[in-house]
This record gives sequence, structure tokens and C-alpha cells, in this order.
Amino acid sequence: MADGESIRETFLRFFERHDHLRIPGASVVPAGDPTLLFVNSGMAPLKKYFTGERTPPASDLCNVQGCIRTKDIDDVGDRHHITYFEMLGSWSIGGYFKERAVELAYELLTGDLGLDPRRLYVTVFGGDERLGLPADEESALAWERVGVPRDRIVGLPASDNFWGPAGESGPCGPCTEVFLDTGEEFGPAYVPGGEFDTTRRYIEIWNAGVFMQFDKGLDGVLRPLPFTSVDTGSGLERMELALNGLDSVYDTGLLAPVVRSVQDVMGEGGEVLHHHRVIADHLRAAVAIMSDGVRPGNEGRGYVPRRLIRKCVTLAMGRHQDRFDVAPIVEAVVGSLGPVYPHFAASRSAVLAAIERERDEFGVTVRRGLDRLDKVIAGHDVISGTDAFDLFATYGLPVEITRDLAAAQGATLDLAEFDAALRRHKVLSRGVTDSADRRLRTDDVLPVAVRGRTTFLGYDTLSSEGTVLTLFAGGTTVDQVEAGTEADMIVDRTPFYGEGGGQVGDRGVVEGLGEVTGTVVHDSGGFLHRVSVRSGVLRVGDVVSLTVDAASRAETAANHTATHLLNAALRTVLGPHVRQAGSLVEPQRLRFDFTHPRPLIADELVAVERLVNDWVLADASREVEVMDPSSAKASGALSLEGEDYGQDSVRVLSFGAFSKELCGGTHVDRTSQIGSFRVVSEQSVASGVRRIVAVTRRRAVEYSLEQASSLSEVAATLRTPAKDVVPAARRLVEAAKGPKPAAAATVSGGFETVVNEVPVMLAPAEGTVAALRNEARREAEKRGRVVVLWSGSTLVVSVPGSLSGRLRADEVLKTATARLGGGGGGNAALAQGGLTSVPTRESLVEVLGEAVAP
Ligand code: ALA
Repeated sequence: MADGESIRETFLRFFERHDHLRIPGASVVPAGDPTLLFVNSGMAPLKKYFTGERTPPASDLCNVQGCIRTKDIDDVGDRHHITYFEMLGSWSIGGYFKERAVELAYELLTGDLGLDPRRLYVTVFGGDERLGLPADEESALAWERVGVPRDRIVGLPASDNFWGPAGESGPCGPCTEVFLDTGEEFGPAYVPGGEFDTTRRYIEIWNAGVFMQFDKGLDGVLRPLPFTSVDTGSGLERMELALNGLDSVYDTGLLAPVVRSVQDVMGEGGEVLHHHRVIADHLRAAVAIMSDGVRPGNEGRGYVPRRLIRKCVTLAMGRHQDRFDVAPIVEAVVGSLGPVYPHFAASRSAVLAAIERERDEFGVTVRRGLDRLDKVIAGHDVISGTDAFDLFATYGLPVEITRDLAAAQGATLDLAEFDAALRRHKVLSRGVTDSADRRLRTDDVLPVAVRGRTTFLGYDTLSSEGTVLTLFAGGTTVDQVEAGTEADMIVDRTPFYGEGGGQVGDRGVVEGLGEVTGTVVHDSGGFLHRVSVRSGVLRVGDVVSLTVDAASRAETAANHTATHLLNAALRTVLGPHVRQAGSLVEPQRLRFDFTHPRPLIADELVAVERLVNDWVLADASREVEVMDPSSAKASGALSLEGEDYGQDSVRVLSFGAFSKELCGGTHVDRTSQIGSFRVVSEQSVASGVRRIVAVTRRRAVEYSLEQASSLSEVAATLRTPAKDVVPAARRLVEAAKGPKPAAAATVSGGFETVVNEVPVMLAPAEGTVAALRNEARREAEKRGRVVVLWSGSTLVVSVPGSLSGRLRADEVLKTATARLGGGGGGNAALAQGGLTSVPTRESLVEVLGEAVAP
């Protein structure tokens, strides 16, 4: 039997033997990648190597990376889907390509791993007309050359065999995947030309090569990467299933002990049931996420462990486990992963305490839901789908629990009706913005039946009456809210603009009741107004009087129209290749992202500002036409990629002859209302994408005045007239130029964890010892973490002032040299040394575990 550890080592040693450098895995929490909620593949932390923004320590790399995938969360419990998994990965960054990648894959699978070649099938990219990409015949030929017959090479479309990016932007390309035939008991054999069943009989064991050729921008456009790379990834748990001929990943040595502990806790020995697998998976994933420092919460990342734990609590309590004892399960997870990943063991007790807290708090809601279910069932033969959905939406009771409990009392459930309600209900979202969170959380609890569409009146008026359709507070729907509470309110008609098209939602008041602090549009079409109730009682069914804050709406409108003018001016000055890649319009400022390969020079920026201000002075009036999307396109209106998708009609907005765009936002009546326009900054946000931040109206005037007053001050300090400051400043700078500062160190793939309650960050780095020391000091103070950097066998440790009472850098270094060999020294805050070999992240986490006494 191959176990997890022997597979990890076989994989890594194989690639090391073929000149790949073994690098540490990173935290599952992405560092510096706002487009990604969790690391979902081995390549995610390495993105910048593939775009050329960073230099990798070697061109060919391999590692094991913990990953979180919530995309297939509903499939968890089947043969091969899990939420936390370890990905075995190998890379060639700008090195070898398709042919070599296929050779290596085949050699490892049929050689070192000993899989029967007759059971292997491969898929290759079958081409895509829309992307303008041909079928990947090169990979198919490479597989044939190593010995895979043509009739086991399957061409699949882009939906299957075009991978990436991880997150919303980054490297991607066509891929080739290896599948294992798990035998006829799992379904009919593949017939060449027929359908290839990738769900049961044929299980993907390795994405043996994403052939990275493109960098997908935030604007959705694929641009060629400066060089091509290979990115491979194989799920360790699936590989164990494959090598041992197991029925499912839950039977592997990695997961079976966790499943068993679930059965023990539930008192349900014998056959492994679906919910045992789900609980094992979900708690394991929650532990993995939380061991990297995330705690359950309502926003962003924290919402994922919260949902995972809550699902387990309901599954258990629905099966009469009122005191769902999570400790043995957490223990089993840490028991299997702790020896390999010391940070699991290091944060064990804190993670368990947080899971228990979540269980206790949420258990109260579940108890209420179960009591409600008893009432729903009482005296009925059939439970309606709407009732079942309501129980799910309001109390978080999964439908299988409702079904089981109903069955125990001889009642059945209208599943079709439930499914219809659920279809409108989205599962885990990837969004990390507040509005995405609100939509998501509301999705969790808003019964479909009470959600209503809202009619938007705000193009023509700033105040109107509306009837309250739904109130949502404290994680559930309510009939009324009183003073002192915050609630999300849906009304049938509103003048409030709901965040969209880059424009923030409106603020304002509900007359006599309180303030609206923000508005977002829910997927159902209902506008969620976040209301802070100050006096009285807000009730469902009430007619309320809504008024938008006119001042902030006017500022926002000026900024939105200015965004359109900026878009047009950039295209005039820089060329028609400029395309909008995103925007944010708020009362205080506007932000506009656009495609352009290099920074703007000063003259270009001046030309853009001048042109926008000319158009402001032209006092052009707003023209709005509502038309179907194809006429809009034909009229030459600018639009974002896919913006008109699925709509019957769109608004086309023009100002004079200079600006025409598809837009649902709110705008000024005449461009002169923008007053003045100034660019505040211009910078890069992604490769080929620039960002301009600008202001209008009074803020633009203030900005100009501030600049003028700074100029006078500089002139006074330099004792020269304002018109001569530039040559005077140049002379001063030349005179003050000292020796060049030391080159900075580059740090890659920082891994943050907590060791015996002490936050630490470990990262491989490049640079001189002096640069490493500077970097370690800076990072330690910035993050408030102990920072351990290594470059080759050089090791630097820095302890920030905030942790100085807890441990000393020189002590940590001493422990490292005692354990790993070598020497060095330093003081309490900073220490450096040379080891006798290149350390691994794991070995350094162990060192910290020893150096930091609990
Ligand atoms: N990044 C590729 C995947 O996750 C290898 O499938």
C-alpha cells in the first residue's frame, strides 16, 4: 500500500532526479493576490514567476501545496471530490514545454509510481473557435510517442482542457490531463468518438501539463506571455486512491482515520454514510484554513470555514447529536497532517476552541430549526419544497436532514419544488467585496418566495415611496426591526442606485426611521438597502419614504460622467487599443483601469487632463437611448466585454460627439456640472493594465490649490522664484547624492502561520546578506510577525518589537544551527547565520516549534 508520505516523496524525488528544485508550499491564504479567496492550485502562489514579474530560484521546480477548492462543494462525498487537498506540482518556467512534460509524466506514472499503462487515458485540448485556438495536436503526438494509443487520447473542449487563471487574472493555457480507468464496475468503457465519463469510471489523477501561453487580464483579454511554461498538478488523495485501487479518496490513509472518528463521534459504526464523508471533509478543510490563521466570520475568507463548520453542525444535530463532539475529529485531522505540516499541530488547540465556539453559537439556531421542522412535519404526509427551502434558508437545515426526519415520521418531501427554489440559490461565492458578501449572506437566508424585484426610479427622481417587501437582520429574515438595529431592506420601488457598473450604491434616509448607508443589487433583482434604524419600528408591508443624499449623488454623477470622458480622452491621446478594464466611481474620487502596455509620460497625462477639461467646458448635455444590444454595438457605443450579455435592452449614453458608452449608472445632465477634473495618480495594477485615480468638482479645485501652495513652499525653502524651482531642486539633489543604497532583497511565496501562539512568516528570498537583514527587519515590523528568510543556506531571523518579550532572534538562530548544522549570531531583534545545507520550510517551522516554548 502506498501511503501519502511515500507518494509525496516519490513524486518530489522523481522531479529532483530530473533537475527540478524542491520548494516549500505556501499558506492556503494567498499573499498579495486580491483576485483569489484561497490558494486553489500549486501554481497560484507562483503566478508572478510565469508572468516574468519575479525570477524563480530555478527554472524547473516541484512541491506539495495545500489547496482549498469550494467550486465543487456539492460533489463532496462522492468518489473523489474534497475541499482541502494536497497538490503535487511540477513546473518548468520558460524551460521545457509539451513534449518533455509528457515524457516526464508518463515515466513517473508508469515507472516510479508503477501504474498499469493500459489503465491510463489522456485528454488534450480540442481547440476553440471563439478563442481562435487550434486543437493541441502536439501534445497528442507526444503521448503517442511515449506509447499511449490514439484511441485512448481524447480531445475535449476549452471548458475541460483550458486551465486557469487561478483567480480573476493571470497565466493560463490549454492543458492535458491523465485519467485512470477504475474498472467496469463504475460504468461503461469509453468508445473512441463517444462520450468520455470523467465523473465515475475515469478519474482524473494528474493535470500533467497546463501549457501556459497566455496572461488573462482583468478585462478578460488573453495576451501572450513573454515566455511559455509548464504547470502540472496532481491531487495527492486521488493518487493514493489510484495506486491502491480504492473505491474513493475517503478510503485513503489520509482521510479514512478522519471518517472513522466521525463515525465514532456519531455512534454510527459499520457502513460509511454520505454525511460521514461530508463532515470529515468539511472539518478537515476548516482545520486547514484555520491553521493558517483565518477565523470563522461573516466577511470574505472567514465565511468559508463558518459555512463548512455550520454544515457539519446541522448534519450532526439533525441526527440527534445535540452535543456534537468535534474534538476527536479535529484530533484525527491534526494526527494525519500535523506530522507533515507542523503548523497544524502548532495551532491545534486554538483551532479546536474556535470550532467549538462556532458550534455552540450556531447550535442554538439549528435547535430552533429542528423544533420548527417538528411543527412542519406534524400531521402532514408531504412536506412542501417551499417549507424545506425555508428551513434551509432561515435555519440552515440541509434538505437531506429534513428529508430523513420527515421519512422517520412517515412523511415525504416535494424535492422538485425544493430544487426549483434552490436553483436560485447560489453556493459559495468567490467574491471578497462587501457587496458580494452581502448578496451571499442574504442568499443563505432569504427564502426565494419573499424576494422581490425592485423597480429603479433614480434616473428621474431622488425621492419616492416604496413598500417594504423583506427585512433581513442578524442573519435571518424578520418581520420588523427596531431602533438601534441594522437591517437589509428590499422595497418594491426605489430612487436608490444599487452598486453596479463600477458605481457605488446610494446613501440617504428612510424618512422618520433612519439612514441608508449603502445599496446593492441582489441576484434576484431586489435592491438591498442597508438601513440603520434610528427611531420607530420598520415593518414588512410598511410604505416608507426614501430620499437619496443629493450631495453625494451629485458628486458620484460628476465622477461617473468624468470616467466616460476620461475613457474617451485616453483613446484619443493614446490610441484605440485602450480598453476599460474596470472602474470604481464614488463621491470622493473615480478610479479607472485600462489596457495600455506602459506608464503614461507626463505630456500624455497633461494632454488627457486638458482634453477632459475642454469637454467639461463644452457643456455638452446627456443623451440617453434605450436600445437592443446589437443596435448599441452597431452604433459604436463603448462597452465592457460581456456587459450586455443576456439583456433585452441596454442604455446608451452620449455626451456631445466625444463620448458614447453603454451604461446603467447615474450621470450629470450637462458636462459643465463636473466643474473641474484632475488626475491624482497613474500606476500599474497588472501586466498591461494601468490605473488612473482622479477627482472632480470642489475636490479637483482643492487638489490644484494644494499643489500650488506646496509649490510656493518649496520655492520659499529653496529661496528661488516659483518658476525656477525645477533647476534649483535638481542642483540640490545632485549635491545630496550619496553612495548607492544596497540592492533590495526579493522575497517569494511568504508563508504565514502561528507557532505556539506566535505569528511567524517564512519565505525563501534572494539577495545579499545585508539586503536580507534589511528586508527581514522591515517585514517583521510591518507584519508584527517573526520573519525567517533564507537564501540558499543563509538564514536571517527577525523578531519585531511587539514580540520582543516572547522570544529572541539569536535564540531561534541557535536552535536552527543546532538542529540543522551551521553557525551564526546576532541579537534579540535580528540574527543571521549560515547553515550546512539549504533548509526547507517544514524544517524551519520545526525549529520555531522548538525555539518558541508554549
Ligand atoms: N494548475 C493546474 C491545475 O490545478 C495544474 O489543475
